[in-house]
Amino acid sequence: MKVFTLASELKSIQQENPTQKIAFIPTMGALHQGHLSLVRASQQEDCLTVVSIFVNPLQFKNPLDLDKYPRTLDADLQELANVGTDIVFTPTVEEMYPPQVENVVVDLGSLDEKFEGAFRPGHFHGVVQVVYRLFKYVQPQVVYFGEKDLQQCLVIEQLIQQVFPTIQMRRIATMRESSGLAMSSRNVRLSDEGRKTAPALYQSLLQIIENRKSLCSAVATETERLTQLGFDVEYLSCVSLPYLDDVPCDFFASIIDDSPRPKCAVLVAASLDGVRLIDNQVF
Ligand code: PAF
Repeated sequence: MKVFTLASELKSIQQENPTQKIAFIPTMGALHQGHLSLVRASQQEDCLTVVSIFVNPLQFKNPLDLDKYPRTLDADLQELANVGTDIVFTPTVEEMYPPQVENVVVDLGSLDEKFEGAFRPGHFHGVVQVVYRLFKYVQPQVVYFGEKDLQQCLVIEQLIQQVFPTIQMRRIATMRESSGLAMSSRNVRLSDEGRKTAPALYQSLLQIIENRKSLCSAVATETERLTQLGFDVEYLSCVSLPYLDDVPCDFFASIIDDSPRPKCAVLVAASLDGVRLIDNQVF
């Protein structure tokens, strides 16, 4: 496995592997099985796999969150080598944001203002800028993103459509612990008690889908249940894809099962023990 820190070093990938498909997986490190599942998925497509590890300051509103973000580079490199990653790119902030590179403009409609965008203003602007630069440096044919960050996937799909139309996007299903809790770098910050309670988030998503014919009452019941369990719920909503528009209360009651309808998702963000967790289920 090669480790590069300079964007110019990445040029050798294309030169040395002219016929092989390049797969790219951007990360901020603190890797867990969810990230490694993206690497494994790229290998099933017989790609040359490039993973970046870069904690992007531009996507953090609060400098304290940026400082607190776990940095585990040695362990990450070991894990990536173990799963057979070909190249790891670990640039510095100066390398990613040289003064001569201009920001990209992508029309996201209101996608970056809702849900994660509303609670973390400027977050998706930062994500778009860094992913744009990474795509330009790595020049991948295929990119892999985890569906746990569903809104981020939708934003990246817009970036691809508008700026990199030849890149193929692969969304990979969320990896879950046996309890149902979505894997996340933040889970290590949960207390023992929090770990026992946290799977309730995923159960709520499934309950809402199960009871979708009475959508608004199902959402209210699950919001109340999570609050009783000690969650501070930021949002719990059923939306249609790809623009995350709210689904009306009577939507599922008025359609016959299995008739064609837009893809929908239930999204949740809630803090437990001061740890902010997000999850979603597409259906
Ligand atoms: O999902 C993440 O880890 C980050 O938002 C990403 C895509 C690596 C951009 O910094």
